[in-house]
Amino acid sequence: MNKEQIIKEAESYVSTLHQNDTTGHDFEHILRVRHHALDIAQFEEVDLFVVELASLLHDAVDKKLFKDADTAWQQLYQWMNDMELSEAIQTEIIHILKYVSYNGGKNEGKLTSLAGKIVQDADRIDAIGAIGIARTFQYAGHFKEPMHISSQQPRNLNDLQEGQYHDEPNTAINHFYEKLLLLKDLMNTKRGKQIAAERHLFMEKFLEQFYQEWNIIKKTN
Ligand code: ADP
Ligand code: NI
Repeated sequence: MNKEQIIKEAESYVSTLHQNDTTGHDFEHILRVRHHALDIAQFEEVDLFVVELASLLHDAVDKKLFKDADTAWQQLYQWMNDMELSEAIQTEIIHILKYVSYNGGKNEGKLTSLAGKIVQDADRIDAIGAIGIARTFQYAGHFKEPMHISSQQPRNLNDLQEGQYHDEPNTAINHFYEKLLLLKDLMNTKRGKQIAAERHLFMEKFLEQFYQEWNIIKKTN
């Protein structure tokens, strides 16, 4: 199979996986991540095939989405073998999918592949700005988390054990302080940093307005 055919197969594989998703990880998220990744890749010396393939597959084994992560990995291995991907490419894709996720900061510094760093930046761009805000509230609704609790402070990520970041109930607003607002300083590439800086400003504006509207009840009481 040639590269173009493998990309088509990957699109089809993940469009099925992310079908009916209401957690903010629908197929459109995957397509936006591919778009951002290929955009960033123009400014880097990197294998575009690996960037495109890894961006399409980046959420295919995510623990948040697929409770049976072992089966998701087995399916991925099978798929990669069916595509007759070289061992080197399979190893790189596995490495990227293992460490691309933010995971409460626990994965920082673990990605060594440049293609992986580009996909991570692309994924992080889609986690911030207007789309990032929308996805966060969609995720919170899906997992029955409240949007905000004034008395519930964001957690200190350094105090969290592996797994606690996602497994403990949270609020959508706290997620801004535990992830979204931190991303601009964690971007890997120059292009990623530029885009993140703009989207960051928009999130700050959003939060300011959110608190103004939220506090209306207290003020009129
Ligand atoms: P990562 O794997 O790096 O966490 P994803 O592409 O899988 O990145 O998307 C994670 C997105 O899911 C977050 O950016 C956010 O929009 C949403 N999300 C994750 N955890 C929460 C949470 N506890 N509350 C609200 N939204 C969340
Ligand atoms: Ni993603």
